[in-house]
Amino acid sequence: MKKDVCVVGGAGHVGAPLAIVLASKGLETIIYDINANATKVLASGKLPFLEEGGEVLLGEVLKKGTLHFSSDPASVQDAKVIILTIGTPIDEFHNPSFSLLTGCIDQLLPYLSDDQTIVLRSTVAPGVTTFLDGYLKEKGKKTGLAFCPERVVQGKAIEEIQTLPQLVSGTSREAVKVATDLFGRIAPEVVEMTTHEAEFAKLICNAFRYIQFAATNQLYMMVESAGINYSGLLAKMKKGYPRMGGIPGPGFAAGPCLMKDTMQLFAFEKHNFVLGQIAMMINEGLPNFIVENLAKSMNFRGATVGILGMAFKGDSDDIRDALSYKLLKILRFSGAKVLCSDEFVKDESFVSKERLLAESEVVVVGVPHTAYKTLAIPQNKKVVDMWNILPRAES
Ligand SMILES: NC(=O)c1ccc[n+]([C@@H]2O[C@H](COP(=O)([O-])OP(=O)(O)OC[C@H]3O[C@@H](n4cnc5c(N)ncnc54)[C@H](O)[C@@H]3O)[C@@H](O)[C@H]2O)c1
Repeated sequence: MKKDVCVVGGAGHVGAPLAIVLASKGLETIIYDINANATKVLASGKLPFLEEGGEVLLGEVLKKGTLHFSSDPASVQDAKVIILTIGTPIDEFHNPSFSLLTGCIDQLLPYLSDDQTIVLRSTVAPGVTTFLDGYLKEKGKKTGLAFCPERVVQGKAIEEIQTLPQLVSGTSREAVKVATDLFGRIAPEVVEMTTHEAEFAKLICNAFRYIQFAATNQLYMMVESAGINYSGLLAKMKKGYPRMGGIPGPGFAAGPCLMKDTMQLFAFEKHNFVLGQIAMMINEGLPNFIVENLAKSMNFRGATVGILGMAFKGDSDDIRDALSYKLLKILRFSGAKVLCSDEFVKDESFVSKERLLAESEVVVVGVPHTAYKTLAIPQNKKVVDMWNILPRAES
């Protein structure tokens, strides 16, 4: 085998930063992705999405010649380790969908050999690694299988891959060793566990954050309904009181992972994961609350409302499952004319933040981009700023 690693789904948000970091450590790395466009963009030295420090490091590895690109599944046969980073959505029944993973493995089967190891990095429901191990064996393959979940924050992956401990598990001692050796090259520490533990660990990391956001979001709704500014209250409550230091601020808990991973536990627990279910109701209900709260003091019909920030989180260009779009839909349904703006998301229908401020009677901050910290908000505007990012924060 001529290459060290092939990252399948390597043009995606998880795959690309990992492939770039691996290549930067001198490992001969192939990015294989069915999205030939995204692969082309990467090969030209650009990232298809925002990732801090990503383009600089990509430039360096392209110069070094350790990063290679392919749109052909046969390319996995050249690599000792195959890392799977494809998407793992939930289906219409809120159950994990296996078919993308088994479909991907089916495509790779003709090119897999017994001396290779597959490292599953996509987030999977408890038991899926064992299931896939059986699937490979059924197909006559003795390819090793490890599960090493990704726990870094999107946008800071290049840094965090190299600074956070890496969870490592596998269905055999050999697979664990291969994965430990590989991640030992890029992570400061490797934490070994069983595949079942690693599957739970990844999902709990996201579900717990989702539940924390739901807790603060519900308190936000309660306090704001009582006419009190929640951000101001949090600041006063936290002053000199470390026990409250961990309470997050309110905001849209959105994006492609938090709710989806909570739902994976929900499905695992035979739909009895009550905390997760309640967290989903609260977090997904926040856009409705904002509209209903505004409706107490205004009529949306004929009014112009501006949504400042459409990405799913601050300083990101990723709109996957962004709740600002849900807010947009509810506002339009209520009869408002809605203007949208974003610092990073490219959409021809969006307007500049200056025009949005000038033309909207009400401004709702959809996501806290850093640029909003210094925005001058005209005095006559009604502002909903649950993130407390604007210089004049009112809600
Ligand atoms: N985005 C995050 O912050 C994050 C963090 C931790 C874990 N995860 C998990 O990582 C996985 C990937 O997430 P993502 O955000 O990178 O998704 P993504 O959609 O950005 O990337 C997936 C990539 O896989 C490619 N792909 C899909 N099917 C393929 C196939 N059969 N063969 C080759 N390429 C294929 C797609 O073209 C895409 O480029 C998911 O399981 C997700 O839950 C994501």
